[in-house]
Amino acid sequence: MRLLSLTVPFIVLLVGCPPPTEDSDTDLGTGTDLGTDTDEGTDVDTDTEARTDVGVTSRPSPGFCVPWIGDAPSTLSRTGCVSDDDASMPAAGFVPFSVISPLWSDNADKERYIAMPEGTTATFDERGDILFPTGTVLGKWFTVEDQLVEIRLYANGASGWEGASWRWDDDTQEGYVETSGATLTLDNGQTWDIPNTGQCRQCHTFAANTALGLEAAQLDWDWAYPTGVTANQLETLVHIGFLPADIPDVARLVDPHGGAPEEERARSYLHSNCSGCHQPSGGTPYSIDFRYGTDLADADYCGVDAINTLGFGRIPRLDPGSIDRSMIYQRMTTSAFRMPPVGTNIIDDDGADTIAEWIAAISACPEP
Ligand code: HEC
Ligand code: HEC
Repeated sequence: MRLLSLTVPFIVLLVGCPPPTEDSDTDLGTGTDLGTDTDEGTDVDTDTEARTDVGVTSRPSPGFCVPWIGDAPSTLSRTGCVSDDDASMPAAGFVPFSVISPLWSDNADKERYIAMPEGTTATFDERGDILFPTGTVLGKWFTVEDQLVEIRLYANGASGWEGASWRWDDDTQEGYVETSGATLTLDNGQTWDIPNTGQCRQCHTFAANTALGLEAAQLDWDWAYPTGVTANQLETLVHIGFLPADIPDVARLVDPHGGAPEEERARSYLHSNCSGCHQPSGGTPYSIDFRYGTDLADADYCGVDAINTLGFGRIPRLDPGSIDRSMIYQRMTTSAFRMPPVGTNIIDDDGADTIAEWIAAISACPEP
């Protein structure tokens, strides 16, 4: 029986919530069966049931969507993570979530989900990253201009996290696993790369604890849940027992395209789009640290010369006042050697603008 929520103080009370991000509003999430109460037995607390200020009212029944053993299932239906009636829809009980600062995914709308085993609660590390128990499955649906393109799952099985993607086929109404990746031409003419399983790991690094969007800094905002309720996600996930009540106090990200100060917007963007790799032990040859919680003075890019000059001559990674002399901006906007090096074919103009606005606004780098 989970009564945690009744004792949680309002640590997550919010002032000024970011508007929903552009990638949060396609409506696949309505398949989630939020009506089923799974607290078996008779001691269901009526106050808990009556709460209308959380996005999901009770913990869904577990067991429908569990990590695969051996090879990833060849079809999406066999994963158990989609609806029995309609394989394009998440299974009832796959709990939706959304992030404050999304990864740029070539104009795709994305929906994200969590399934956790019965009786388990995730934990937080000291920087607010969520560490999930064995048996957890995370999902992400990618839609481009109403075309469902692929469904990605990350499953924490007996031998650790494994990711895979299923390409959606509209004719057969089924998804087919693409472990070696694939290049597609979408209905709108856009080229789309489904990453291979090795490429999942390039971004979902061990250093970042594999799950990337699931951290206190990304979830601490009022999201308009598919149920129609707008509620704080941390509070909701504590309420259904997915998260412990003791939430670490970390700075929360801001919408990179919202009204927050330039530095907060730019650094939120760099955190979600770049820091999976660019953090200590993240797998790059450089010591750049794009995590939001790292002091700019220690992050090794402001006023620090780029090592890979790429024909730009000797320029800093970030030069206050000059996008032309800032390698971060150049690497985001030039097609050769563009960052991130995987998962995108289209330059993120809005993201580049966010970085440009910060570079224009910052007058000097802090002393390291
Ligand atoms: C370019 C880097 C990149 C690649 C490649 C990538 N991901 Fe992700 N993924 C992210 C980021 C960043 C997030 C969190 C932000 C968001 O969802 O917008 C994320 C989120 C997810 C989520 C939601 C749970 C979470 O971690 O927040 C799933 C599931 C997922 N990815 C699966 C996969 C799988 C499976 C692959 C390989 C087929 C893959 N991803 C490839 C960067 C990447
Ligand atoms: C999938 C992992 C990955 C992601 C995500 C990623 N990078 Fe990189 N980055 C690398 C690797 C590997 C290198 C080294 C090879 C190279 O220079 O291309 C690198 C190099 C760089 C360099 C060159 C530094 C120097 O001193 O020469 C910059 C600047 C950079 N990245 C910025 C970014 C930015 C900005 C983002 C997000 C928009 C980003 N990266 C996202 C893997 C990544």
